[in-house]
Amino acid sequence: MLNEDLKNEVDKARERLLKQLEQVADKTIILRSSDLKALYQRIAQLPEDQRGFFGQAVNQLKNELTQLISEHREAESALPTVDVSAPFALNSQFNRRPGLFGAELGSCHPLSRELGLILSIFRSMGFSAIESREIDDDWHMFGALNFPVGHPARDDYDTFMTEQTDKDGLPLIAPAHTSSMQNRVIARYKENLAKNEPIAVVIPGRTFRNEDVDARHEHTFYQVEGVYIDKGVNIGNLIATLRTFLQSYFGNDKLSVKTQPFYFPFTEPSLEFSLSCPFCNKQGCSICSFSGWIELLGCGMVHPNVLKEAGVDSKEYQGFAWGMGVERLIMMKYGIEDIRHFESSKLSFLRQFSAGGEA
Ligand code: DAH
Repeated sequence: MLNEDLKNEVDKARERLLKQLEQVADKTIILRSSDLKALYQRIAQLPEDQRGFFGQAVNQLKNELTQLISEHREAESALPTVDVSAPFALNSQFNRRPGLFGAELGSCHPLSRELGLILSIFRSMGFSAIESREIDDDWHMFGALNFPVGHPARDDYDTFMTEQTDKDGLPLIAPAHTSSMQNRVIARYKENLAKNEPIAVVIPGRTFRNEDVDARHEHTFYQVEGVYIDKGVNIGNLIATLRTFLQSYFGNDKLSVKTQPFYFPFTEPSLEFSLSCPFCNKQGCSICSFSGWIELLGCGMVHPNVLKEAGVDSKEYQGFAWGMGVERLIMMKYGIEDIRHFESSKLSFLRQFSAGGEA
């Protein structure tokens, strides 16, 4: 075999090895690659007078690869380390602020955008907003809401708990509803009542349930709670408030609402609130299961025990409250068929809500 052919053989192997070197994350595996091993095995198979030349070429190739690997290692260690949990400016060599990036790189998540809209409608109706919390205790989740220990209705709010316990020795809870904020909000704004002003607060927040996840159920979702307390409040005020909000949110003043009796320990009476289907105007379609109505939320008149726990005289004051699922509302508004899209990070979904509205 000619030296020329032997050289070609090594050159071809070099080409393949350099390509592999570019592709692999752990560069050192190239030195153990079967291609290189095969070249070394080949030395012994060659006639004696060709071994020297071929061996030298193979060694040269190995040295070249070793050199490239160590250069790559040096270049990598020269990169600044990034603390992914730090604020942006700390990781940026140039101390650039995120505002310098073009807006087309991202857009507001549909949940944030619609939540902002929901809150602005309630603000225009005179409600203030207080954010709920993502960890709470048993008393706010149940006790303050008239669910005594052992009450079977607690089972409807099966959620996640920590191993850490509160001062009563009970596990801390990822709240299954924003109602766990009712006691705090009523107690905090109680002075309004003395000044002859109502308590009117909406409470947006993230809520959690031990759910089998499917197109309609998520283990993590958002709710907006509402609480209104004053003298002479009745259930008609509740229905009118929710209808006004819904007509504004859906931009459709033809929407009608209906209620039917339900049970929650923290309201008396309790209602399930339905909206005429915005897709078919009560004609019946697949989205409303051909009933013309969509069940939307739970609500009712605040139970006297809940007022009492928050230090409000239930003989003098009455109030209403509701809790609605935010994803469900957005899904109805835009005809979204699967709740899991919200947390999926799918760009094809998110882009439909960006300013350009690209499908
Ligand atoms: N917290 C209830 C739930 O998530 C919904 C609810 C019902 C909230 C009645 C209220 C209410 O404030 O008054 O199932």
